[in-house]
Amino acid sequence: MFRFASLLVLLFVASAPAAERVEFPPLLDTAGTAHRVGEGPATKATVLVFLNPTCPLCQRYAPTLNKLAAGKHSTVEMYGVVSNATVTFKDAAAFAKEYGLKFPVLFDGSAAVAARLKPTHVPEAFVLTAAGEVAYRGRIDDWYEAPAKPRAEARTHDLADAITAVLAGKAPTNPKTEPVGCLFEDTLPKPDAAPDKVNYNRHVASILLTRCGSCHRPDEVAPFPLLSFADAAKRAKQLARVTADRTMPPWKAAKGYGHFLDEQHLSAAEVATLKAWAADGAPEGAADDKPTPPKFADGWHLGPPDLIVKMPEAYTLPAGGKDVIRNFVIPIDVPDSKMITAIQFRPGNKKVVHHALLLLDITGQGRKLDAAEPGPGYGSAKGGVGFIPSGGLGGWAPGVLPRHLLAGTGRFLAKGSDAILQIHYHPSGKEETDQSEFGVYFAKSSALKPLGGVGVENWAIDIPAGERVYKRSAEYTLPTNLTVVGTAPHMHLLGKSMRVWAETPDGKTVPLIHVESWDFNWQDYYLYRKPFTLPKGTKLRLESVHDNSSSNPANPNSPPKRITWGEGTADEMCLCLFEGYCDTGLDLIRLVTDNATNNKVVERFMEPPAKKK
Ligand code: HEC
Repeated sequence: MFRFASLLVLLFVASAPAAERVEFPPLLDTAGTAHRVGEGPATKATVLVFLNPTCPLCQRYAPTLNKLAAGKHSTVEMYGVVSNATVTFKDAAAFAKEYGLKFPVLFDGSAAVAARLKPTHVPEAFVLTAAGEVAYRGRIDDWYEAPAKPRAEARTHDLADAITAVLAGKAPTNPKTEPVGCLFEDTLPKPDAAPDKVNYNRHVASILLTRCGSCHRPDEVAPFPLLSFADAAKRAKQLARVTADRTMPPWKAAKGYGHFLDEQHLSAAEVATLKAWAADGAPEGAADDKPTPPKFADGWHLGPPDLIVKMPEAYTLPAGGKDVIRNFVIPIDVPDSKMITAIQFRPGNKKVVHHALLLLDITGQGRKLDAAEPGPGYGSAKGGVGFIPSGGLGGWAPGVLPRHLLAGTGRFLAKGSDAILQIHYHPSGKEETDQSEFGVYFAKSSALKPLGGVGVENWAIDIPAGERVYKRSAEYTLPTNLTVVGTAPHMHLLGKSMRVWAETPDGKTVPLIHVESWDFNWQDYYLYRKPFTLPKGTKLRLESVHDNSSSNPANPNSPPKRITWGEGTADEMCLCLFEGYCDTGLDLIRLVTDNATNNKVVERFMEPPAKKK
């Protein structure tokens, strides 16, 4: 990695610490599509309507709900939710089909959604704000005075009015109305506990398919698939263990310390469900509860890209040996400088591509390094790209889907730039080839705020051999306002933990990110759910711990050696990058320059570095 954090090196999009937020696990709808409720990039209101196919009012309200769904735009997410224990997946799917429902119907087999919202009736509607708070609950409208007592037509349109209010940023006039319909008969599980009797089809499949399947499927990065009952049942206890100890899914940001998009934390209920299932002998459950398998699209997720940039030739990776970090220099052919709103990296060979980073070079230094080495690309003994890149377009890690940047923002691509595609390969045990590519999406409008990066970093690192708890801290004061959209903490093999927060001039503390158990192999770019502005004068503060003892299994040296700051993987780093935008382009330049050239990163609480031998 690079010394100057400020060089827009990494990717990104968008939350500040919110008030009380209702969290749901990802769920499959009856068509097999996974949904993260309320996390659409433009979502301002989320509508959830609890339905039970056997309830006549749920059936009769289908046209009303369809009309609401048809009128919705990208700022509203609308779902039906089937949570009743007596309704199978098959029943729910048949209902959605028969009544032609035009919105996804989520199968809430574990009643996780119901446990949080506690509906009393079906149909019962809930409207959530962008911050995930319940703004409205109750009836759809007043068409029915009581079950079997319809009026000629509805006089109030409570749900539609509530949606309109939330979209306008207002509280609905009637935040709670009495739902009319069938009673929601079930006793609900506790929000953090497993349902009473756990089986694969109804409870476990949705967890494994939505949380693990993106990596645990054929030809993906994980060592075995987890797509079927047979895949899962034979290792039920191991699945329970790795989820209880939080090794899997690999997601390093501590829960509640910053709110991120696509968070992979399993909820306590999901962990408890996997544990109860393994303890009960991993039963399969009823065939009627088997979910429609999700489609894992391998194509372009955001539609056809404006430009596809592919490695000009395949790279051959040896069968064994150490991990390889290789830099491929690929000219990007654009007639003019552009703003980019998204990229999608597509690994050519998913078995061996572990990570990728996409950097820009306008100086031709990458070409020179490439020309000096035979074969495609060039290596770097130290793990970096060998010079300071002129920008960055983002990165890729297994299981992460591409997203467009926050609306109204973009990354700058200067005409004449080369892409430096840095790929981290894990040898697979046999010789493999890879020819990866990425798609680029250009901004449709030119009036975009450019994103830039700042870092808070400590490079006075000198860790004695064997030191188990070596602490660093750093501080950087923002010279301008900064609206933060994402972050990337960075350490090397001795990194153990890192906590980063902001202290605003008026004395507030804003948690930014906490990595409790750092793993060099699972570095991520964390996109905040909602961007938030840190005012000029805010201090970004960082604390990290590094372990240079032999009890750190990632320690590259046995016996341990003294380690100092450096860009090589075997050296150590301590840095956290933030990407965001300023009030004006000039402010952004001021910020980035201040952060890079003035080295204003202040180290505090530091022991004096040990003298060089
Ligand atoms: C982002 C990709 C990714 C996701 C998501 C993911 N895994 Fe993994 N998983 C891996 C990789 C890669 C390995 C191999 C790890 C290694 O070799 O160090 C692995 C290994 C495992 C192992 C064997 C390792 C051990 O310590 O026993 C189990 C079991 C496992 N995963 C279960 C799960 C479960 C359960 C989920 C979902 C709840 C999940 N994984 C989600 C990538 C992923």
